[in-house]
Amino acid sequence: MTVSDIGANCANWAKTGLNPRTRLALTRGLCARYPCIMASIETLFATKLYRAVLNARRLNDELEQACREIPREDRAGQAWSRKHGYRGYTSYASLADLPERAPAFADLVKHLDSHVAAFARALDFDLGARALKLDSLWLNVMKSGGVHTAHIHPKSVISGTYYVTVPPGASALKLEDPRLGLMMAAPRRKTRAARENQTFVYVEPKPRTLLLWESWLRHEVPLNRARGERISVSFNYA
Ligand SMILES: [Fe+2]
Repeated sequence: MTVSDIGANCANWAKTGLNPRTRLALTRGLCARYPCIMASIETLFATKLYRAVLNARRLNDELEQACREIPREDRAGQAWSRKHGYRGYTSYASLADLPERAPAFADLVKHLDSHVAAFARALDFDLGARALKLDSLWLNVMKSGGVHTAHIHPKSVISGTYYVTVPPGASALKLEDPRLGLMMAAPRRKTRAARENQTFVYVEPKPRTLLLWESWLRHEVPLNRARGERISVSFNYA
């Protein structure tokens, strides 16, 4: 049975809003025998991922330059990265003033503010007159062999990453189904499961791409196999 057969057999399916693949799965062995039966599947408790590509090549160039210069001066950040086995550099524990240090970061924050506000609207957050505010912002220069193990960002509302430089072969961002610990006897998903049904989702970053998610969403950066440096700026809003 093809998707168009289903449409011919049971026009009501078109009203369900289900994607054709789900409609096909539901109707196999059902619609053909019982053409008037209606079944529906609703997606609840959706996990949203916001993605935007910033139309700001010059800003990206300035950010790349700043992200290469700042680590050279930040001895504390270098030491922290070494001590914690971070292959490369992160300003996470050493610098809290990137927007004051380099105008490019201040410009980036203006972009982030508007995208975070848009995402908060899409999530139907009831914030009253308040807007989410930048809480922390740090840069990451990950070398080949670097990883960032699975984690969440406690005490924040929205977290995200802006990708400055992504060499070929650089790690994706790996997102984990937040219900993973509750799945008990749930079978594992098919290798080719629909994206919304997958337990882990990999997002391939591209330069100038901004990703936002809710801060409770566990994520990680698997082993980075790129030869060049993978440069990103991460942040929290609360
Ligand atoms: Fe993170």
